[in-house]
Amino acid sequence: MFKRIPGISLGCDYNPEQWSPGVWREDVALMREAGVDLVAVNIFGWSNLEPSPGRYHFEDLDEVIGLLHENGIRVNLGTGTSSPPPWLSSLHPEILPAAADGTIRFPGGRQAWCPSSPVFREKAFALVEQVAQRYGSHPAVALWHVSNELGCHNALCYCQVSAEAFRGWLRERYRKIETLNEAWGTSFWSQRYSDWSEIQTPRLALSLRNPAQIIDFHRFSSDELLGYYRGELEIIRRHSAIPTTTNFMVTAHIRNLDYWSWAPEMDVVANDHYLDHRLGDPVAELSFAADLTRGLAGGKPWMLMEQAAGAVNWQPHNLTKAPGEMLRNSLTHVARGADSLCFFQWRASAQGAEKFHSALLPHAGTDTVAWREVLRLSETLDRIGEVAGTEVESDVALVFSWESWWSAEGEARPSQAVTYLDEVHRAHRALRELGVTVDIVAPGADVEKYKLVVIPCLYMISDEAAENINQYVGNGGSLLVTFFSGIVDERDRIRLGGYPGAFKDVLGIHGEEFAPLLPGHEVTLSNGATGSLWTERLRTTTAETIATYTDGPLPGVPAITRNGNAWYAATQLDRRGLRELMRSAVESAGVTPAGPESNGDVEVVRRSKDGRSYLFVVNHSAQSVQIAGEDLVSGKLITELKAGDVAVIREAGND
Ligand code: GAL
Repeated sequence: MFKRIPGISLGCDYNPEQWSPGVWREDVALMREAGVDLVAVNIFGWSNLEPSPGRYHFEDLDEVIGLLHENGIRVNLGTGTSSPPPWLSSLHPEILPAAADGTIRFPGGRQAWCPSSPVFREKAFALVEQVAQRYGSHPAVALWHVSNELGCHNALCYCQVSAEAFRGWLRERYRKIETLNEAWGTSFWSQRYSDWSEIQTPRLALSLRNPAQIIDFHRFSSDELLGYYRGELEIIRRHSAIPTTTNFMVTAHIRNLDYWSWAPEMDVVANDHYLDHRLGDPVAELSFAADLTRGLAGGKPWMLMEQAAGAVNWQPHNLTKAPGEMLRNSLTHVARGADSLCFFQWRASAQGAEKFHSALLPHAGTDTVAWREVLRLSETLDRIGEVAGTEVESDVALVFSWESWWSAEGEARPSQAVTYLDEVHRAHRALRELGVTVDIVAPGADVEKYKLVVIPCLYMISDEAAENINQYVGNGGSLLVTFFSGIVDERDRIRLGGYPGAFKDVLGIHGEEFAPLLPGHEVTLSNGATGSLWTERLRTTTAETIATYTDGPLPGVPAITRNGNAWYAATQLDRRGLRELMRSAVESAGVTPAGPESNGDVEVVRRSKDGRSYLFVVNHSAQSVQIAGEDLVSGKLITELKAGDVAVIREAGND
């Protein structure tokens, strides 16, 4: 009945509350036509399910789930708690979150609740109890979808309820107020606390705030929402054995949850991803996000819970997708480990804040390019279904950290122009251009199986995680580090005695002083590359100098160094310069690229398992590329792939 099990499922969010029952029937018929086989419902259902306090109304949801079930469509069931109904915030305005300036965020949008609010939790958990009890063993339900994008808008709440919860979290972490004082360096600016009750959330202040307090507030806020997730999960588990997840936001513009700590608690890791046209290279960012999501899933297949068929509505300029683009985006996700592709949303809304957001079924109906693109994707997924369950092959790891992101972009730092994610994207893009597939790992992860570890701009790292890297290099592993890495420990305390404290021995260098450049200024290197944003006065101890600056503030000072297998770039290298450095590291580490070198517009990734092997080729370029083999997408033996096309080559070794 479920044609894509096993296989790559095609799904979407469905918001039937916005439509009449007559439309539901048409919807389900069209879902069948499109091969949609996994539908998320009840994501924003609360005000319909509980129209007034304690009075539940399940008839509509019963009918929708029944209809989907009769039509062989599995349900990804929302717990419905993501956005509270107006009666709740009217009766209990204390659930509303506060921004960093202390002002209250009003209802009228969505997710207007404080993650620590006991009142919100009580009411939300009561709803979850009802939903889990009612549908916990419903044969249509394949997956539980807890809340929605937890922390998308409300991750950092600065209200007094949050302050009290923050104090509780700090007591757990530090036990003694003196330990907290030491960890936060409160001797600075007379900030020493004599009692826990004096501690507040880091609201906006007259001057720079304590960076260690801010980083702990981030940690607390991430843990607080994870605790909320656990609360819903515990209720679901009492009524249901069905797998549970929530949709992550591994994306460039949201950074408030440390998903390394969340991922182990998910039965399936799921991500929402939208092309972001505010970035220089949205497709490269998509590839990075997909690799990071696979990292969160421990290399196992994961689920794309949301993407857009065309334009979104929340960027300043919402570009649509050209024919073939949505298919390429989708195949990039699958190439990098997704086994389900879902969309926001099924039918484009006629009303509300998202009425200009694309959907699988557009306002204009089925006689449209957009609908035909959906059918094309569906057919492609049917053809490549046998790849499901295989895993991505990679010899290179890139270390990524949310903590480092939060702390590297603190208020007072050497250069506001340096942004963590940009440096991470640059390193990832250089590898992608070389045709090299990368696994993204957490600091402290076991990296022994990798030939090369890349550490871009990892400002904060704990002693244990640094030791792990140093040992890896000691055991013969190759390492490439870029500037502003290994500077502080997890208390945001500088590692004294020369930069970068965590890695200076393994890199064979000794940094004395940072010398950032003004945006728009460049320095030239002796190897012909250019550097921007950052330089530093450093000397080599055991490393050899690969390139020096020939101009700028530090002529003659090393800019790129190599200490055996360990490489360091002390400046933001231009695109080509970084690619060349990466090439040297990749070649000397003996890494074999999965595909040819390109400008990043030809992506090649291999998925394999138990003797099965598939080469994904996504050709974003305007030229055809040479690639030969049995292509599952076209069903033919091919020798080249046309501009804009995708192929999945079934490699030798398959049965
Ligand atoms: C996500 C959210 C969806 C929808 C979508 C629009 O953040 O989970 O409900 O709002 O964005 O792009």
